[in-house]
Amino acid sequence: MSVTAPNNEITVERRHPLIGAEVLGVDLARADDDACNRIREIWMRHPLLVFPDQPISDAEQIAFAKHFGALEVHPSVEHRSSRHPEIYRVANVDEAGRLLPADKPAAKYLGLTWLWHTDSSFRAVPSLGSVLHGIEVPAEGGDTLFANMYAVYDALPAEMRRRLAQLRAVHSHDYVMSLTDGLAPADDDHFTQLDAVSHPLIRRHPVTGRRSLFISPHTMAGIEGMPDSEARALFDDLIAFATRDSFVYRHKWRPHDVIMWDNRCTMHAVMPYDAANARRVMHRTTIVGDGPVLPA
Ligand code: SIN
Repeated sequence: MSVTAPNNEITVERRHPLIGAEVLGVDLARADDDACNRIREIWMRHPLLVFPDQPISDAEQIAFAKHFGALEVHPSVEHRSSRHPEIYRVANVDEAGRLLPADKPAAKYLGLTWLWHTDSSFRAVPSLGSVLHGIEVPAEGGDTLFANMYAVYDALPAEMRRRLAQLRAVHSHDYVMSLTDGLAPADDDHFTQLDAVSHPLIRRHPVTGRRSLFISPHTMAGIEGMPDSEARALFDDLIAFATRDSFVYRHKWRPHDVIMWDNRCTMHAVMPYDAANARRVMHRTTIVGDGPVLPA
């Protein structure tokens, strides 16, 4: 499908029936309020937008992302840009351009992006959305998968939806750290400390009003009032359901793709690549959430 917006040059073309649309005709380095209002409108219909061929600087990326809200500073100290703390460097090279040794915490932490997640689900107010600039991309692997969680909710059996609407999952940054040997949660030099929080498993989008399944497998430590073994079994079922191919778009990166996704109705995961040899440098700005997660 191709739609030409009236009164300007912006065009939108679906890349997937459920999620992922390419947006052409806008220069993100110069996008003004009008262009960003138009982009926001498109974004509410397509939770993942792809802007090809946008070689923006970090400062331009920050300015663009700020049209959509304040920006987070990521809890991983080593992944913050030293010049722009709002830039989270999802990169397997350091700022001097050296590949990260696989046994270092920074490399191990990066590996956690290979798990399905929603950005900042470990915060009391999770992120609204993220903007990611692909600066160096590997020739093989390193694609990013996105699931449309509205569609997942819509496809759940009615009885399961009713059950989940009563439940809150506990999310913890320490939990994600515990998934990898050698990452120490209580280490302020590397990671800002954050208390565990809980969020509803079914959420309502504050703009569209649509319901979606809210899971973020890498931070979900349990379910309030439920034995851990039962919660883990339920999580496993939900993750398997939500990541079925039909719900998922696979983004194959080209240098200087910029993509932006709505964390209130999607989740994503990076596909493995040869991180010991192939460079992958992405810069992310993460938009602060617009309030606590709304229950169904
Ligand atoms: C992220 O998990 O936010 C980063 C995704 C990516 O590097 O493709």
